[in-house]
Amino acid sequence: MSMAKITWLGAMLSLSCAMTALAAPPIKDVLLASFKPKGQATLERLDQDATQKACSTAETVSGELAARIIAENTATIRYPADGRYLGDWRNGDKIAQTGTGLQYSDDPAKPAGGNCYACHQLAEAEIAYGTIGPSLKHYGKLRGTSEAVLKYTWAKIYNAQAFMPCSTMPRFGYKNILSEQQIRDVMALLFDPASPVNQ
Ligand code: HEC
Repeated sequence: MSMAKITWLGAMLSLSCAMTALAAPPIKDVLLASFKPKGQATLERLDQDATQKACSTAETVSGELAARIIAENTATIRYPADGRYLGDWRNGDKIAQTGTGLQYSDDPAKPAGGNCYACHQLAEAEIAYGTIGPSLKHYGKLRGTSEAVLKYTWAKIYNAQAFMPCSTMPRFGYKNILSEQQIRDVMALLFDPASPVNQ
């Protein structure tokens, strides 16, 4: 073997060793080394709770694991202390249609939006909406406003994983994405007979 070939082989070997070494650190360390806290996006976003860990590692989510996730998330739900579930639907409409929040470019002094329209149809007249979640059109008109329906809907918005383990729906109350008053306003959007949802 010529000297040139041996050197080339050596270079390839050390390159592959370097690549193995690069692949070694845990993914969280890699993310921590490159993510910077800025605006509303703090490094807390890299800390997974037990539910997120289970949802990122489990091959399937059923049986005991599903029951554990539901129980853990149900325990986080806080209902409004004064028993008022409904706020102002006009404000709720703005929250549902606002996609900003928790991103580095968002002003930390400003509240986050709910981004509901990105996954749900909300109103008949809506032109653009996502379909990851079911349509919420006529939500209040179809279900009424019994205590049970109000409580269920509050809890679903507060922590969707209390009902659907590993749901893609953000846990708005539990993760402090929306305030109690913002959830009331979004609730009014779903239930008020005058809101665009129920036309
Ligand atoms: C990233 C997608 C996503 C976003 C954003 C989202 N949802 Fe959902 N939502 C879902 C999915 C998916 C479901 C179906 C059940 C599940 O997976 O939890 C759902 C279910 C629901 C339900 C239960 C519907 C039923 O038939 O019982 C309600 C109510 C709801 N969402 C309200 C909202 C509101 C209000 C917002 C905004 C504050 C919102 N969602 C934002 C994905 C989303």
